[in-house]
Amino acid sequence: MDIQENVDLLPFNTFHLSATARYFAVIRSISDAQHVFASEVFKKNEVLILGGGSNMLLTRDFNGLVIKNELKGINIVDESDANVMLKVQSGENWHGLVMHCVEKDLGGIENLSLIPGTVGAAPMQNIGAYGVEIEKVIHNVEAIELKTGHVRVFSKEECLFGYRESIFKQELKNQYFISSITLTLTKKDHQFNVSYGAIQDVLRERNVEKLTLRAVSDAIIFIRKSKLPDPDLIGNAGSFFKNPSVDFHFFSALKEKFPTVPSFPGEKNLIKIPAAWLIENCGWKGKTLENIGVHKHQALVLVNYGGGEGKKIWQLAQDIQRSVKEKFHIDLHAEVNVI
Ligand code: EPU
Repeated sequence: MDIQENVDLLPFNTFHLSATARYFAVIRSISDAQHVFASEVFKKNEVLILGGGSNMLLTRDFNGLVIKNELKGINIVDESDANVMLKVQSGENWHGLVMHCVEKDLGGIENLSLIPGTVGAAPMQNIGAYGVEIEKVIHNVEAIELKTGHVRVFSKEECLFGYRESIFKQELKNQYFISSITLTLTKKDHQFNVSYGAIQDVLRERNVEKLTLRAVSDAIIFIRKSKLPDPDLIGNAGSFFKNPSVDFHFFSALKEKFPTVPSFPGEKNLIKIPAAWLIENCGWKGKTLENIGVHKHQALVLVNYGGGEGKKIWQLAQDIQRSVKEKFHIDLHAEVNVI
C-alpha cells in the first residue's frame, strides 16, 4: 500500500469541491491502517480521515495526509431467535448496508435509508432521520487508536451519543479511526417507527396495510428524493447546520413574536427549532449566488451547482448564520465538518 502525492479530492466529497491533498492513502485492511499510522508521513502531518466525504466542506487545499477508508465486509457475529448482531466494516456504504438489511429482513435501520456516506461516519455523528438515530441499534464500535495502532472496542454507553454527537467528535476527536460497528437488529417482530407525519402520508397514499421494512424504506427514499438534492447530480452535504435548541423562556418570547415558528422536543428539556424554518424566514431559501446557493426545497441544504468554491459556500453559510442571529437571536452551528 503506497502513499500518493498531490491528489485532487473532487471525486471524494459530495459537495464536488476541488482541493488538493498533499498526501493520500487508501486503507483496505486493518494492517493497511496500522501500516499508515506507523509511517513518517502520518506522524509528521495533519491527518484527515475520509469516509464518503458526505459531511464535509473543503475550503482549502489540505497540506497533510488524507486517508480514504475502504474497509469492507458485513458479517453476522451472533444470532438468537429474535435478533442478529451484524458486524460491519467502516468503509462500507451506509445506504448499501441499509439495503442489505431490508433484503435480509433485518429491522432497525430502515428509517436511515438513503443517507449518504460510509458506515464509519454513522456513529461519529450519530446519524439520524425520521425519528431514528443510529445509537438505537449500536451494540459497539471498534476503533484503532491513531497514536498507538491499538484496537479498542467502545460499548454503546462509552460512545456518549447525543444529537449529531459522539465521543469521537468531542473528547476523542482525531484520536481514533473507526474500523467497524456492530449492530443489534431484529429478525422478527420489527419495531416500526412511522410517527413522522410524512411517512404516514406516503404509506397511506400507497395503500400499505401491512408494514414491512421494505415499505418503510421505500417511503423514506421517496420522501428524501422529493426534498433533498441527489449529491450525484447537485453537490451538497445534507443538512448544513444542526437544528438549534432553546429553553422554554426563550421559546415563549420567540413564539409571541413569530407565532408560526415550528418546534420539536429536544434533549435535556430544551425545545428544538428547525434551522430550515429560521433560514427560510430570513429569505434565503432557493437563493442562488452564481454557481452555489440554498436548495429550493430544503433551506437547510447548501448546494454547489458545479464549479463552486468551498470558500464561497462557507461565506454564504456565515452570512446565513449572521442573518439568523440578527433576526431571531439564535446561533446556528454547522453540522458539516469545515476544513
Ligand atoms: N422547514 C422549513 N423550510 C424548509 C424545510 C423545512 O421551514 O425549507 C421546516 C418545516 O417546519 C418542517 C421542519 O422544518 O416541518 C423540519 O423539516 P424536515 O422534516 O425536512 O427536517 P429537518 O429538521 O430540516 C432533520 C435532519 C435531517 C433529516 C430530517 C428528517 C438535522 C440537522 N437534519 O432535518 O438530516 O433527514 O430531519 O428526519 O437534524 C442531515 O443530517 O444531513 C439530514 C438530512
